[in-house]
Amino acid sequence: MIQKSEEKKKTTIASQASVTNRETRQMKWSLERNQMAATSSSSFSIGSIPHGSKTCSLGQSNNHGIKFNSRNHLNNFTGLKAVTSINPNSNSKSSIFGNNITVRPATITKTRPNTIKVTASFKVAILGAAGGIGQPLSLLVKMSPLVSDLHLYDIANVKGVAADLSHCNTPSKVRDFTGATELPNCLQDIDIVVIPAGVPRKPGMTRDDLFNINASIVKTLVEAVADNCPNAFIHVISNPVNSTVPIAAEILKQKGVYNPKKLFGVTTLDVVRANTFVSQKKNLKLIDVDVPVIGGHAGITILPLLSKTKPRVSFSDEEVAELTGRIQNGGTEVVEAKAGAGSATLSMAYAAARFLESCLRALDGDGDVYECAFVESEVTELPFFASRVKIGKDGVEAVIGGDLEGLTEFEKKGLEALKGELQGSIEKGVAFANK
Ligand SMILES: NC(=O)c1ccc[n+]([C@@H]2O[C@H](COP(=O)([O-])OP(=O)(O)OC[C@H]3O[C@@H](n4cnc5c(N)ncnc54)[C@H](O)[C@@H]3O)[C@@H](O)[C@H]2O)c1
Repeated sequence: MIQKSEEKKKTTIASQASVTNRETRQMKWSLERNQMAATSSSSFSIGSIPHGSKTCSLGQSNNHGIKFNSRNHLNNFTGLKAVTSINPNSNSKSSIFGNNITVRPATITKTRPNTIKVTASFKVAILGAAGGIGQPLSLLVKMSPLVSDLHLYDIANVKGVAADLSHCNTPSKVRDFTGATELPNCLQDIDIVVIPAGVPRKPGMTRDDLFNINASIVKTLVEAVADNCPNAFIHVISNPVNSTVPIAAEILKQKGVYNPKKLFGVTTLDVVRANTFVSQKKNLKLIDVDVPVIGGHAGITILPLLSKTKPRVSFSDEEVAELTGRIQNGGTEVVEAKAGAGSATLSMAYAAARFLESCLRALDGDGDVYECAFVESEVTELPFFASRVKIGKDGVEAVIGGDLEGLTEFEKKGLEALKGELQGSIEKGVAFANK
């Protein structure tokens, strides 16, 4: 009886995650025990879980990149996880690239215990690392086995954050850089730059109210990125993302180093919220839920495509209206609850860490990485648009336009309604960068 129940647990876990054998080898998700921490009993990797087609039990080396002395711990672990991926060889939906795509449920791949080697080889810089997002994000990145060097930069003193983190017995080397004169050094040989620098919203402020301060901060930082690590992936978190990403693009163009495939507005928090709220509302296992969120990253420009939720689930009109509103206003919910003490920081750090880990996996050769992000795009008439993108070693490999097909009337209206505001925010950013 006990044995049966254990088997059932394992099967449940196995159905909750997926990777292919190839992915498992390439991505080196788990650490060998002696690599992560000589004394610790567990380790885990941040980021979303890739998806494959084979199943197996979770041994010492499992596909979340988690290792525990007892397997029972795994039953409680949900992980930072993008649940579904898009299979370019399937025939259910077509993308603008002519590929047919489908979203498939997660499965898990068999791996031999202790056969996965980790090469912590990527260099990550966090600009604004002393802040509300920057600190927990730095901690999560410090836990990634794929990161060899973690550079923390801020105009505020970031030495203490770096000293604190450097005591964690995980592989990456942490260095601190404070003030503009140290920024060029911070950016040398960096693979991914994450930008959460700026001021957060206060109650009553919209993301656009932040524009004047954060636009200048992003401009200055991206100029330094262009000068010092022009080939790096750039993850823009600073709001309003709908404007700061176009600003970054213009600055990079002015510097002659713009590569649209490597510039991302981080909208992962919208997906994370959508998955959480839908799973609560429909009583679904959180780990199985995946809702694409498209458009932009402010108010009505955030458009969750509930009709494309995986696993398939039906919603009443009232539920669609309520969930859409809650996802669009998730940031305001936190801003008001914090009552003047800032905006979402912990959930944002989680979301940014998930997006970062996905990009690290892509850089490491994983050929099956999909995330929603605000990128240069041709899926609509707007020059930038958030949608699912396939990420590879060189950045965006494909923008998945198929999600815009077969929308419900509610979603079609939402899409049309967001275009004016999003266009305005994009133009505002472009004008700022070129004034
Ligand atoms: N993309 C999203 O989903 C999302 C979600 C939440 C918050 N945000 C945005 O993230 C940003 C940061 O939020 P927070 O709560 O961490 O704010 P915070 O004020 O706690 O931290 C911001 C940090 O940036 C630093 N900073 C300011 N100017 C800088 C500069 N020129 N160079 C380097 N560092 C600089 C500050 O010293 C501070 O440490 C805000 O713009 C906020 O609106 C985005």
